[in-house]
Amino acid sequence: MQLAGKTALVTGAAKRIGRAIAVRLHGAGANVVLHYRNAEGEARALAAELNAARDGSAEFAHADLLDTDILPDLVEVAVDRFGSIDILVNNASSFYPTPIGNITPSQFGELMGANLKAPLFLSQAAAPHLKTCRGAIINIVDIHAERPLKNYLVYSVAKSALAGLTRALALELGPEVRVNGVAPGPIAWPEDGSWDAAVRDRVIRHTMLKRQGEPDDIAKAVLFLAGDAGYVTGQIIAVDGGRSANI
Ligand SMILES: NC(=O)c1ccc[n+]([C@@H]2O[C@H](COP(=O)([O-])OP(=O)(O)OC[C@H]3O[C@@H](n4cnc5c(N)ncnc54)[C@H](OP(=O)(O)O)[C@@H]3O)[C@@H](O)[C@H]2O)c1
Repeated sequence: MQLAGKTALVTGAAKRIGRAIAVRLHGAGANVVLHYRNAEGEARALAAELNAARDGSAEFAHADLLDTDILPDLVEVAVDRFGSIDILVNNASSFYPTPIGNITPSQFGELMGANLKAPLFLSQAAAPHLKTCRGAIINIVDIHAERPLKNYLVYSVAKSALAGLTRALALELGPEVRVNGVAPGPIAWPEDGSWDAAVRDRVIRHTMLKRQGEPDDIAKAVLFLAGDAGYVTGQIIAVDGGRSANI
C-alpha cells in the first residue's frame, strides 16, 4: 500500500487504459478521482467497485476537457473530497486520422485540446497542491510522439508536444514535483474497429515481443513513476513490446 493516504486524479478513467491505471493506483492504497466525459455508467460502476473494496476511496467527476475554464474545478473535486491531490495522470485522449489536405481547424482544436492543452492547464491548476505534497504528474504519451503515425498528423504532433510538455513541466515544477510520461505501444485497438486484422497483424509483427500489450502494462509503469521512481523526472518510458525500436 505504498500510496496509502495519497490522492490520484486520472483523466479518462472509466474505460480501457485509464481504468487500469485507476484500479492499480487504488490497489496501491490511493484514493482516486475518476474523470469521465461520456462514459458515466462505466465511471459510476468503477467508483462503486472501488468503494466496495475500500469505503470512501473513489469519486467520479464529469468534464469535457476541451472546456479549459472548468479544469481547475476538476482539481478542486479531488482537494474538496480527499484533502489533497498528490498524483495527476493525464490519460484522456482524442484519436482519429487527419489526412493532410483535409485537416480542419476544428479537428486541430479537438486533438490538440484533449492531448496537449488540457494536460497543460490541468497541471497548472494542480501544481500548487502537488508542490505542497511533493507529488507527481504522469502524462500518457505515445510512441508515435517520436515517429509519426501515417495519416494521424495532428494526433502525432499533439503527442510530440505532450512529450515536450512533460520535460518542460519537469523543469518548471521541480524540485517539488516530478513529471514523467509513459508512451504506450499497441495496447487497446481503436474502439470504432477502424484498424482491421491486417493492420493489427502488421503492428504486432513490428513488436519485438510479437504480441499486444495490456492496459495493466501501462498501469504498472504509471505506478512505478508515481511511487518508487523518486529520482526520475522529465523522462518518458516506452511500454511497447519493443515496437518503437522496430517501427
Ligand atoms: N490504446 C492504445 O493502444 C494506445 C497506444 C498509444 C497511446 N495510447 C494513449 O494512452 C492513453 C489511453 O488510451 P486509450 O486507448 O485507453 O484511450 P481512449 O479510449 O481513446 O480515450 C480515453 C478516454 O478519453 C476521454 N476523452 C476523450 N476526449 C475527451 C474530452 N474532450 N474530454 C474529456 N474526456 C475525453 C474519453 O472519455 P469518455 O469515454 O468518458 O468520453 C475516453 O474514454 C491515451 O492518452 C492514448 O493516446 C493508447
